[in-house]
Amino acid sequence: MQVYDVIIIGSGLAALTAAGRLSLDRNVILFTKSQDKDSNSYQAQGGVAAAIAADDDWQQHFTDTMNAGAFHNLSKNLEQLTKQGVSTITELIKEGMHFDKGTDGNLDLAKEGGHLKRRILHAGGDATGKALVSFMLSLLKEKVEIREYEMAVDLMIQNGHCIGVHATCADGEIRQYQAPATIIATGGCGQVYTYNSNDSTITGDGIAMAYRAGALLTDMEFIQFHPTVLYQNKRAIGLISEAVRGEGAFLQDRQGNRIMEGVHEHKDLAPRDIVARTIFNEMERGEDVFLNISPVRHFSRRFPTIHQLCKRYGLDPAGQLLPVIPAAHFLMGGIKADSNGETSIDGLFAVGETACTGVHGANRIASNSLLEAMVFGNRTAERILEKRTKMPANTNDSLNVDHHTASLPDKQEISERMSKNVGVIRTRQGLEEMKNWLEQFDFLHINQLTLTKDEIETINMLTVSWLITTSALERNASIGSHFRADYPVPVQHAGRKEIIRHISENIV
Ligand code: SIN
Repeated sequence: MQVYDVIIIGSGLAALTAAGRLSLDRNVILFTKSQDKDSNSYQAQGGVAAAIAADDDWQQHFTDTMNAGAFHNLSKNLEQLTKQGVSTITELIKEGMHFDKGTDGNLDLAKEGGHLKRRILHAGGDATGKALVSFMLSLLKEKVEIREYEMAVDLMIQNGHCIGVHATCADGEIRQYQAPATIIATGGCGQVYTYNSNDSTITGDGIAMAYRAGALLTDMEFIQFHPTVLYQNKRAIGLISEAVRGEGAFLQDRQGNRIMEGVHEHKDLAPRDIVARTIFNEMERGEDVFLNISPVRHFSRRFPTIHQLCKRYGLDPAGQLLPVIPAAHFLMGGIKADSNGETSIDGLFAVGETACTGVHGANRIASNSLLEAMVFGNRTAERILEKRTKMPANTNDSLNVDHHTASLPDKQEISERMSKNVGVIRTRQGLEEMKNWLEQFDFLHINQLTLTKDEIETINMLTVSWLITTSALERNASIGSHFRADYPVPVQHAGRKEIIRHISENIV
């Protein structure tokens, strides 16, 4: 048994931000099941939204976010995010983070869907996540013990408190780690969909683990599909940032018709859910959809990552028509947490995409996720520091587990069924079919500690798929990213009515 002050699970921006602050005063260990740069944060292109321009303010950022989120947002937390976003970014720049500047020497602020102002800071053109994660890792250096290829499997709960985790190492050995505070920051669950923009490691592990431990989850039905993922040979091969549309690119069919014309007042920069559904409907009718990048000036310089991506797959960006498909991108729901990362279980914290603080409502506006990771990552660290939580007396530290093989479907079948039944457009019939299929697998009662890493990921994908499906069945309405064809008129100002998932209510 190894004992720390804080355990952090995950290595994205939220995890690294919290680790950076905590490591000044606490003994911290951070786990990742692969390498430290394998995260959605590292791959983020567009940037970080913050109302730092002279003609902007947090209230306008707040309003644009509420509009995109269909007013399902939790306004108290969103106010903290948009207000503190400005000071967080200012501080980060002071610490040495470099964001791109224009020829006039001022920050080059970009535009993305739903934002009525230019407020997106970016770095390396379209490599903002890579720049931010590398910067954070350089600050952490020797201060935090980072364990790569060690996967947190299940939380240890004692008398209602989280006291640490069981983790499995590359060789399959199970270890126990104890700490009075454990932070889950494992990102979302993009791999439960065939077409997705996520890192291949993103299988919903932290969310499934928290659910098994008895934490409350919320908003699981809200999955964001990014409208423009590059599409080739029936495969989604990489994100094309919304910032490309912010610089003038537009969506068209093969005949050259602009598909967003007449759909929304902001056309190609309408909120993501609206653009994604429009593309999806075109494709259902047999049309191919393309992003026409001819209006974008200096494409290869401004978007070097995307330019390279196109070239790697033999697509000539100079040809100017890039085939695209909507793909799962972000989970607005997750482990129910407040803006200090506190969950319904004492000693357990959640931050970043894993957490649902309600700031994104039913559809996240572009570039608020990196901001959330940093603002709430810092707040979570501060909360843990001020709590001075003591370690409950422990327990046994030896574990002898035999490995069993569970009867499980393969991951590809899960993601194909989820894409068909719980995708961009949902129906009661498809959701019920998915729920019935999932419930033939006994994914909630298997001892995770007896399984291989691949089996644990499969169980986590089944669990998260079931949480998304049952929540989507329960929400008899179309709102934001959750669209039910049997309730075809979207609700815009419904306010926040949460669908909570808790293990005691499971019906498997
Ligand atoms: C993008 O660059 O389009 C993605 C950024 C985000 O999801 O916020």
